[in-house]
Amino acid sequence: MHRLWVIGRTCGELSKFWADIFMSDERPKALISMQALTSAQQSEASDWAQRLGMPLDVDSEYALQLGPEGLQLVELGPQAPGPVRVDFVEGAAAHRRLFGGGSGQMIAKAVGVQPGVRPRVLDATAGLGRDAFVLASLGCPMTLIERQPLIAALLEDGLARAAKSPEVAPIAAQMQLLKGNAIELMKNWQGEPPQVIYLDPMFPHRDKSALVKKEMRLFRPFVGDDLDAPTLLQAALALATHRVVVKRPRKAPIIEGAKPGYALEGKSSRYDIYPKKKLA
Ligand SMILES: C[S@@+](CC[C@H](N)C(=O)[O-])C[C@H]1O[C@@H](n2cnc3c(N)ncnc32)[C@H](O)[C@@H]1O
Repeated sequence: MHRLWVIGRTCGELSKFWADIFMSDERPKALISMQALTSAQQSEASDWAQRLGMPLDVDSEYALQLGPEGLQLVELGPQAPGPVRVDFVEGAAAHRRLFGGGSGQMIAKAVGVQPGVRPRVLDATAGLGRDAFVLASLGCPMTLIERQPLIAALLEDGLARAAKSPEVAPIAAQMQLLKGNAIELMKNWQGEPPQVIYLDPMFPHRDKSALVKKEMRLFRPFVGDDLDAPTLLQAALALATHRVVVKRPRKAPIIEGAKPGYALEGKSSRYDIYPKKKLA
């Protein structure tokens, strides 16, 4: 078949043809591809690939895999850490929901949770939805925005699985996910504005726990340092009716721009609070 193809080709086409054959091992890999882990999930995986504009089953450095436990992002290769998925039902999220200190947690105080007060919160930097889940499990109606399509996909899948768990479904029902850039979405907000806007943009030196290190390693190629955080803060201050809360690593500088009214400091994080109106 090769011989037939060779007849009548130009020099340039021929050298590319042979280069493709002999150098196929050296061709750069795709950054990421979609994979189904079971044959029953092939068609759903192909739908995800199409939605995310991602190749299906090609040689790649990372894979978005659809398996029996849902959607997961994994680095491929011998030294790679394990996969990351959004799991609101078991593991760390379940532990924190059951034993995490409830409304006494610093994040709850930061957004203004008090007896009889459960503010409507917009988490404009949703990430894997951990902070939003904590607030939703305390009874705050949450809107989440995530702009990185890969992370938004993991979150969407985690929320869909949570909705099937009798224990966690009522919490997932309090979490509405919007995909896109929060700066634009906040500037063009329709309907009732959120009382509190919560921001946790990426910061280069975050806490060094093993889990965070693994996630940082995985997400680095896909998410930058959120250098537009000052514009995000400005848009949040213009929209929130009661307060804006910014989570930072404890020693990090404030986001450039308006100064917070006060801060709550924890072991590794700090919450900068920009009050507008008393929550009651
Ligand atoms: C540090 S992570 C947030 C982690 C999150 N608080 C959690 O508990 O999982 C920051 C996330 O914000 C997202 N992000 C940053 N700026 C954004 C913007 N303007 N609009 C939407 N998402 C944004 C990034 O893509 C990233 O996923």
